[in-house]
Amino acid sequence: MRTIPETLPSSDFLREFPDQQSLAQQLADDVALWLAEGINRRGKASLVVSGGSTPKPFFEVLRKKDLPWEKVYVTLADERWVPAGSPDSTEKLVREHLLNDRMQFVPLYNGAASAREAEAAIEQRLAAMPRPFDAVILGMGEDGHTASLFPGHPALEEGLTTKKLCLAVEDSPKPPPERMTLSAHALESGKRVVIHITGEEKRGLLSRIIESQAASALPIARFINVKKGSFFIFWSA
Ligand code: 6PG
Repeated sequence: MRTIPETLPSSDFLREFPDQQSLAQQLADDVALWLAEGINRRGKASLVVSGGSTPKPFFEVLRKKDLPWEKVYVTLADERWVPAGSPDSTEKLVREHLLNDRMQFVPLYNGAASAREAEAAIEQRLAAMPRPFDAVILGMGEDGHTASLFPGHPALEEGLTTKKLCLAVEDSPKPPPERMTLSAHALESGKRVVIHITGEEKRGLLSRIIESQAASALPIARFINVKKGSFFIFWSA
């Protein structure tokens, strides 16, 4: 296990791994445990996952865990507003790398002409999920965005303040431009919130946010919450 070059405070919320595969194993072990706890407590559990390139190895390990998957509801931190068969679709990614035919998947895309038009329908779907979510796994972009909450974007304020569970985002700086995202309120309500990142650049950005101890304008800062046992950063080279 390597030491941290930047001064991210070493504590029980920071989990560092030498490579993506060992991170994937540990994160999948922890998430499986958290889901099992949820099932024991209320008969069902819920998981929010992110898209992008980082989570694939984690998905591949998690899907093989021995769990009563029919009791697990899975949704996305955000979705790109493209048909579910499109190469850009996070639903497609998750169907190929995570879902088995027993998990209860709750898509954020419903085929409506625009994400804006679909907001109320997707809100209803999310409201029917077991909440609080047992685990929320967030990605992060190098600009400090998470889910589809982008720094400086006109939809950011609504995303950070609304009590709704989701909102449409237009003109995303990361393509494709139209998206549906869970709100900060929905994401931070997770019993466990994990920021899952790889690479020095992303670690440096998180270190700087944590060290500054100041309220950062970057969306990811909202989720850096050192409540013992409920917030984790999983990092690998
Ligand atoms: C997406 C998400 C985005 C993603 C981060 C990290 O476009 O899929 O909106 O929030 O999780 O940009 O992506 P990478 O894992 O590809 O770096």
